[in-house]
Amino acid sequence: MNEKLKSVEQTLKKYGQEHLLNQYYRIKDKKEAEAYLNSLLTINYQQVKMLYDKCEEKPSFLDSAIEPIEYVDKEALSESAYKKYDEIGAKVIEDGKLAVVTMAGGQGTRLGHNGPKGTFDIGLDSHKSIFELLTDTMLEAREKYHVDIPWYIMTSDENNEQTVEFFEKHDYFGYPKSCVSFFKQGKLPMVSTEGKILVGEDGKVKEAADGHGGVFISLRKEGMLYDMKSRGIKYVFIGGVDNVLVKPVDSVLMGLVEEEHADAAGKSLIKANPHEKVGVFCKRDGRPSVVEYSEISDEMAEATTPSGELKFAESHILCNLFSIEAIEKFSKKELPYHIAFKKASYLDDDGNLVTPKEPNAYKFEALLFDAFESLRNMLIFRVKREEEFAPVKNAEGVDSPETARELYLNFQANRKDKPKAKTTKKKAK
Ligand code: UTP
Repeated sequence: MNEKLKSVEQTLKKYGQEHLLNQYYRIKDKKEAEAYLNSLLTINYQQVKMLYDKCEEKPSFLDSAIEPIEYVDKEALSESAYKKYDEIGAKVIEDGKLAVVTMAGGQGTRLGHNGPKGTFDIGLDSHKSIFELLTDTMLEAREKYHVDIPWYIMTSDENNEQTVEFFEKHDYFGYPKSCVSFFKQGKLPMVSTEGKILVGEDGKVKEAADGHGGVFISLRKEGMLYDMKSRGIKYVFIGGVDNVLVKPVDSVLMGLVEEEHADAAGKSLIKANPHEKVGVFCKRDGRPSVVEYSEISDEMAEATTPSGELKFAESHILCNLFSIEAIEKFSKKELPYHIAFKKASYLDDDGNLVTPKEPNAYKFEALLFDAFESLRNMLIFRVKREEEFAPVKNAEGVDSPETARELYLNFQANRKDKPKAKTTKKKAK
């Protein structure tokens, strides 16, 4: 037996993952077998073991003090305050100090589209994909502020190639290619309920994207943070791919953050009802945080203020603005991993493909909002649902292409600041 194989075998034995060698012995092609063996050497088995051991642990939030958090309501700003922030923010944007990150590395399992979620057509007459709708918003900002805003798109191993190809095929929908960068997020093995690392249908170790909280470390590792700094970026908006009304370039929010010297700001919406399945902003032991819907007790979800409003009403919609210093700080520290129970097809020990109908495997994900608690000064900015939130999560029902399409069309029909149709070419900063 060669030395490498011996060493892999010892490691696998130590962590109870010997079954991974069954696949090695099945591979006929020498080169492929070697590549598989090498991939086994890159796994941090100790980390996988620690993560699996935590699967049964109760979340620690039960011990922390959770209180409502203060927010600024965009609608309630006085005319002069609105104008002031708008002007300050516009200057920051025009000076080329804002960058946008779109996180598009998720698997989109609920939507079930065969391809990256951004390539999905939500059924508008124009048949524009989600990526094209997002590009429209970026082009609009480019037109308004006369600046090319650098746009960084986070993908995963699973969907990077298809995402880049899609943009290439469509000539970046008219956005300057020199201002669009793709970067891949990290990944972690998926494990069975017995803690065994799975082998995927492609015969490789089954790995999945490490959650949107992986964005900060990936920005650094993939050289994006360096690129931002070299372009003189001061603020970075980070949002998900699946909100077709996302407003990443918001001068009022930008001005507020600049004026208040905040390290970050999160956009919030009033929760539609006490049991809407969204996380809400809160203070956890005095620090900014998000309490997930799965963590909220009925009592907490239904609690109201003396004026009758929900006490925990500020939904987190994954639309956040960060100072570059905050990103730099987060990029050096791993966030805790959460456990998701997902459906994952795999090869069993005899090499047969198993396609489960129910969730069967653990996936480990870092969540972006876990970074909030280390922020010194984070603002919560309440915006209007009908103007900024049309999520595409499920194939049908709530937060589906159908609801997103309707929200998108209503917004376009009612908006007062209709953009000019034509876009002009501007030089990259
Ligand atoms: P969701 O948590 O809704 O996950 O992601 P998802 O992968 O899109 O869909 P499901 O849960 O499998 O159905 C919210 C946003 O975060 C991004 C997604 O692409 C989406 O924009 N995300 C999520 C990543 O970029 N990477 C991840 O690892 C997870």
